[in-house]
Amino acid sequence: MRLQKSKLLQFFFALFLSVWSFNFQSYNGIVAEVDQQKMAAFEVLKTRCNTCHITENPAKVFTLENMDGFAKRINRQVFFFKRMPKGRDRRKEMKPEEYQTLKNWINQVKSLRK
Ligand code: HEC
Repeated sequence: MRLQKSKLLQFFFALFLSVWSFNFQSYNGIVAEVDQQKMAAFEVLKTRCNTCHITENPAKVFTLENMDGFAKRINRQVFFFKRMPKGRDRRKEMKPEEYQTLKNWINQVKSLRK
């Protein structure tokens, strides 16, 4: 009887450990994916936006720390009003993949906020 009890305890301990480590792994997977999309978007912000903002709009130089907070405004300026990147030629020059990269990241920020 005593032996069975400790086996049962062992079993639940093992079960707990495996569930816990599985959760941890999938959590790490999600974090890695979020990081990857965010880094890709940051690359676009750096090359297509910061190059100008650094002199023309220094209050909105995007960084990894502040970009999520600007996601809504960026969405409005780039996809709704289509004002940014400023200048018709620059908007044309920006590649469809780069627009998509920004859109993916914006959607991700939105989904994480819900
Ligand atoms: C050639 C210069 C230039 C480029 C390139 C540029 N911007 Fe801007 N941006 C400005 C200036 C100037 C302002 C401030 C005046 C204004 O709103 O027109 C501004 C303002 C903004 C604002 C604040 C507007 C608001 O009311 O919310 C956002 C957000 C923004 N830019 C995002 C971007 C993003 C994202 C990109 C790149 C995809 C980008 N900008 C590229 C010059 C630029």
